[in-house]
Amino acid sequence: MSSTIHVDPARIIDEVDPRIYSGFTEHMGRCIYGGLYDPDNRNGLIDPKTGFRTDVMDVLKELKMPLVRYPGGNFVSTYKWQDGIGPRELRPRRPELAWLTEESNQFGTDEFILWCREMGVEPFICLNMGTGTLEDALAWVEYCNSSANTYYANLRRKNGHNEPYNVKYWALGNEVYGPWQVGQMESQDYAKAAFQWAKALRLLDPSIQLISCGETGFVDWDRVVLRKLAPVVDFHSIHAYTVSEGKHEVNVMGPAAAEKSLEITRSLIDLAKIEHGLSKPLTVCFDEWNVWDPVRAPGEKGAEEHYDLSDALAVAAWLNVFVRKADIVKIACIAQSVNVISPIITSPEGLYRQTTYFPLHLFSNLMRGSSLDVLVTTPSADSYYTGITVPAFIRNITLHTPDLAKLTKYIDASAVLANTTQGTKEIRIAIANRSAEQEYEVPIIFGPNVAVSETITIHEVWHEDLRATNNFGDEKVKTIT
Ligand code: AHR
Repeated sequence: MSSTIHVDPARIIDEVDPRIYSGFTEHMGRCIYGGLYDPDNRNGLIDPKTGFRTDVMDVLKELKMPLVRYPGGNFVSTYKWQDGIGPRELRPRRPELAWLTEESNQFGTDEFILWCREMGVEPFICLNMGTGTLEDALAWVEYCNSSANTYYANLRRKNGHNEPYNVKYWALGNEVYGPWQVGQMESQDYAKAAFQWAKALRLLDPSIQLISCGETGFVDWDRVVLRKLAPVVDFHSIHAYTVSEGKHEVNVMGPAAAEKSLEITRSLIDLAKIEHGLSKPLTVCFDEWNVWDPVRAPGEKGAEEHYDLSDALAVAAWLNVFVRKADIVKIACIAQSVNVISPIITSPEGLYRQTTYFPLHLFSNLMRGSSLDVLVTTPSADSYYTGITVPAFIRNITLHTPDLAKLTKYIDASAVLANTTQGTKEIRIAIANRSAEQEYEVPIIFGPNVAVSETITIHEVWHEDLRATNNFGDEKVKTIT
């Protein structure tokens, strides 16, 4: 079978925002405790001063994540941030209602900021709009960002942190629409509350960037929220996880639904901007995305997915979507970054990189620059979508649209025009073969003024078995260059 890729460097969509390669760490399962923070580890894997896992930091650094979102997720909706600061021995243990565990509060805001500084990433904090009040949110922003002589800024100083943290990104709640969320709200109620929060938070710190809580991007919640919040936010969030239902093709085609949802969100944003006469940038922050089957890896049990090659291909398809939609998605956070639905898994003795680590690593390191409009043509219809079966999101939300035929071709590609360290330009193309059986020849036709070099570098993530997984000391699915 043959599928032709057409790339023209003149057809630039937009710059790929490096923030699409961001991460997410939640107080959930072994993400924080036993993942990035492991003070009792006796295997030489931590920095004894901080308790941070240095092996985790090393492999995450290679992913070049610009931002990391924290502390949830669902966790944040009952989180009292004040419990997680000050002397550790005085921090209270609390019942934790998202994942029905206990929170020791040994890792909190100051530790997260220190971890971000050591990682060279920017912190992105999600506010508690469940049990939390506007007063708590203002106090959190004051604690992190204020240089004034006021109570919470002084409390930060008292805790040993003289300089403000200048946390720029603040999200107005997490999945507030969901029945699983403590403090679930109706869309109108959320929009009204978040509008007031945004106003007050900006009075305290006009430099912050705010993110509204969106749903999947194509439901009424998103329309209502954008209509009200467009004037006061900088990003609208979307969350989606794709599931495989045990079938490879469902797994790798799922991100097509996210691509469609981004197109719909773009229109909702346009509508809201027109209605309010806004010309400011307002884009999407896809702050939770990944392959996650909550039946296979339940949240209450720590959601430790054991990914195979099929999942790695699904992650590549997700990333192709973000590169192709570079004009509308400016932030995306893989959910999550350590142990919980994550590209890396730790034990007290070490860690391994899951299959999904490798496409993420390739994209984050190479697929930066200007996103190019790629056309994939096939001699005959060669698409997974032929009827009404659609790729699924979790929670049984499905999207029926004729566009899915276009979005679910077996050969899935994105391209960038990148600057090289030698000061030249280079076209980089990411291609995923989403067929379980079919091999493809993929001729590439370039637009005018492209000199094709005789040496081409190919990085490949491949294994003969789509079900191959990695393990400790056994990374059989990885990048071969
Ligand atoms: O990432 C796991 C969970 O998925 C998050 O806590 C929540 O926001 C989403 O439902």
